[in-house]
Formats: sequence, structure tokens, C-alpha cells
Amino acid sequence: MYKVLKREQIVPNIHLLAIESSSVHQNARAGEFVVVRADERGERIPLNLVDWNKDSVSMVFMEVGTSTSKLASLKPGDEIATLAGPLGKPTEEVQGKKIACIGGCYGIGALLPVIRMFKEKGNHVTTIIEARSEFLLYWQDKLREYSDEFQEITRDGTKGHKGHINDVLVDYIKKNNVDMVYVQGCTYLTYLCSEITRPSGIKTIVGLNPIMVDATGMCGVCRVIVAGETKFGCVDGPEFDGHQVDWDNLIARRKIYINEEISSLSFYECERYG
Ligand SMILES: Cc1cc2nc3c(=O)[nH]c(=O)nc-3n(C[C@H](O)[C@H](O)[C@H](O)COP(=O)(O)OP(=O)(O)OC[C@H]3O[C@@H](n4cnc5c(N)ncnc54)[C@H](O)[C@@H]3O)c2cc1C
Ligand code: FES
Repeated sequence: MYKVLKREQIVPNIHLLAIESSSVHQNARAGEFVVVRADERGERIPLNLVDWNKDSVSMVFMEVGTSTSKLASLKPGDEIATLAGPLGKPTEEVQGKKIACIGGCYGIGALLPVIRMFKEKGNHVTTIIEARSEFLLYWQDKLREYSDEFQEITRDGTKGHKGHINDVLVDYIKKNNVDMVYVQGCTYLTYLCSEITRPSGIKTIVGLNPIMVDATGMCGVCRVIVAGETKFGCVDGPEFDGHQVDWDNLIARRKIYINEEISSLSFYECERYG
């Protein structure tokens, strides 16, 4: 069992969870994830690592269903049944590049270790976070610490640029010599950013979140098609080149598991919850 050190709601529906680390922190690297299980009867769910030290590992999660609701009810001193990781391939380390990093919903938290690593490697980091409204944006100060430029977008215009990521990203890549775009968030955000950068050929790395079961490469549930080949999100990813992902296949596969009532992929999937 693994002790909960902290669980707090950061903004509505989005929580920080810090768990006492046994050994997970020792090998943790930016872009990796853990599998957690709230209790012995629970499902194993993957969550990105957002921070770690010798005492704890932290995740940011959005409350969307049974397992994340169980996690959202945890208190310091409670215990969870599973904390497995770090899993997946870490973010590729690059140096001396101009990188635009984009995050939405839980992906805002997931950006933190990645932009920290990019900054430490001497890259120029522009961080762009987006949400439906100002009250759903979070961790601006933490992210600014590792960002050369920082932008906020809200659909209702309550903070930063009013509108959508497409307006901002199209404009940003037109005016700046961007080497790479990195995206964390819902499937539609990762898809959209990949389509925006496709015409210019700017390398675009996306953190995918296919449904996972074992997260060890055994069950095949997380398979995605990348550059025409079947890859497993858990062991070959979860980050891939967004221009090589077969998005039609990924979106169709995700819809299989999603409740019919909420299955239409609206502009932002996470608006259903946020
Ligand atoms: C590598 C990886 C890293 C992830 N990192 C994070 C993270 O840092 N924070 C976070 O909040 N979530 C993350 N996710 C998604 C998270 O695992 C799911 O939201 C979680 O499994 C939902 O469990 P649940 O029982 O609460 O919801 P369920 O009852 O299983 O599902 C409720 C609804 O949530 C949606 N949903 C379920 N699974 C996913 C999924 N994999 N992706 C998107 N929507 C889903 C569906 O619309 C479903 O109808 C990650 C997924 C992967 C594969
Ligand atoms: S989750 Fe089973 S192979 Fe990836």
C-alpha cells in the first residue's frame, strides 16, 4: 500500500495527488507516467508524473469517472493499492531549440516536468496554456519559472487571449522560427495542434492518452497507428510524432469505450467535465 501525502483540488475537477514514493522517483524522467489503483477492487489507471523527489511523486488528474472519483476523495494518511512506474518512454531531450509547449486540462500539470527539462537543456521555451475560463487555469507561476515566454488562452476571454489554441498557434508559428511544438492534453487538443503545424512541417510531439489496461505492452488495448505501424502507447509512447499518428483510427478507437451520450468529439472533450 502507498500512503497519500496530499490530495487537493487545484481548480474545479482537477486535483493534485502526492503519494509517498517507494522507488518510483529514483528513475523518473519527464514525459513518463505511473499506473495507480485507488483500492484493491479498483481499476489501474495511467497518470502522468508531474513532479517527484525522494519523499513523494505527484500527479495531476481530472475527475471524469469511477477511478478518478475515488482518487478525488482521498485524504492525507489514506493509502492506495497500486503505484507502478515510472512507465513509458521519457520525452526526447533536445538542446538549443525554440519550442512551443501547449497544455490543456490535466495537460497543464503534465507540462511542468517537460518544460523544466527543456529549459535545463538550454532550449527557448514558450508555454501556452488554455482553458474554457480563467478559473480553470492553474500553475501559472510554476510554469513561468521555466518559460521564456508565457501565454494564456480562455475561450470566454476572462484571461489572456480570447479564443482557441488555433488562433494563437497559427499566429505564433507565423511570427516565430519555431523548431518544435510539444502538446499535452485531451485527444482533440493534440490532434488539432498536429493539424495546425502539419503544413509547415514543424516537428510536433504529442502526449497521447489511449485507453490502457496492463500498461506493460501485453494486452494491446492502447495500440495506436504511427507512421503506418502499430505501436503500443504504454511502451512505445505515450509521446509520438503528431504528424505520423493515424488520428481517424485513434479517435474511432477511443469512441468505442466512451458513453454514447458524450461520444461526439466536441471542440474540447474536457469541456464535458471542466
Ligand atoms: C499515458 C497516459 C497518461 C495519462 N495522464 C493523465 C493525467 O496526468 N491526468 C489525467 O487526468 N488523466 C490522464 N490520463 C487519462 C486517465 O488515465 C483517464 O482519465 C482515467 O483512466 C479515467 O478513469 P476513470 O475510471 O475515472 O474514468 P472512466 O470511468 O474509465 O471513464 C469516464 C470517461 O472518461 C473518459 N476517459 C476514460 N479514459 C480516458 C483516457 N485514457 N483518456 C481520456 N479520456 C478518458 C471517457 O470519456 C469516459 O467516458 C492519462 C492516460 C494515459 C494513457
Ligand atoms: S495497455 Fe496493454 S499493451 Fe499498452
